[in-house]
Amino acid sequence: MTSSGRKLVIAIDGPSASGKSTTARMVAERLRYLHVDTGAMYRALALKALRAKLDLGDDGSVRYLLESSSVDFQAAGASSRVLLDGQDVTEEIRKGEVSQKSSEIAALPAVRRWMVRRQRALGQAGGVVMEGRDIGTVVLPDADLKVYLDASSDERAKRRWLEEGGDGSGRPTAEVRRQLDERDHRDMTRSHSPLEAAADAVTIDTTHLSVEEQVGKVLEEVKRILESASEGTP
Ligand code: DC
Repeated sequence: MTSSGRKLVIAIDGPSASGKSTTARMVAERLRYLHVDTGAMYRALALKALRAKLDLGDDGSVRYLLESSSVDFQAAGASSRVLLDGQDVTEEIRKGEVSQKSSEIAALPAVRRWMVRRQRALGQAGGVVMEGRDIGTVVLPDADLKVYLDASSDERAKRRWLEEGGDGSGRPTAEVRRQLDERDHRDMTRSHSPLEAAADAVTIDTTHLSVEEQVGKVLEEVKRILESASEGTP
């Protein structure tokens, strides 16, 4: 796939449970690119704010949070671990209360500036699949490929419910859906870098697609770009 030797910058955006993370991880694995889950970075900061019981309405507290925190990824085989101030928080950042807090923290302009600086540094060298909400629009506006993944709200709520254990220990579907809708609404209507498809993004509706099909569609786009680049080379 990368026989031309060119390493692309790929941006994948979309709402919660649209299939972004799985698709981004698998595309990165197939291409042997770096996978950057920017949502995990917002989650890590949100976890710290929760632990420290910080008031996000207070500028001084937010400044303290940004000045005192480090968020890094550590390679672990094909996947990676998320480190907050050097501590592995990969599992803890997936908890429901962290999800809600991450969406609140993501609406703060100072937090977004802090994130964008770090994310651009990670994407700079190419050979990266970066996923989030504002990657194609703000973080990497010159990305070689921009993908916007979407799925119906029913399907996304069902996926999240299944991920959380479905019928067994999980929460009721209505509750999962309410929180998902609330978070998406906040992410799409905030004044700073709201979730939206970049004008030049390829939109893929994953409602009726399997993971393999989703990944296949993104890889087709990659192939198209690499082929047209090599046709243009003398
Ligand atoms: O993708 P996720 O659910 O792990 O993201 C957690 C929250 O972070 C989500 O509510 C929106 C926010 N986010 C964002 O605003 N911009 C990004 N690039 C990534 C995530």
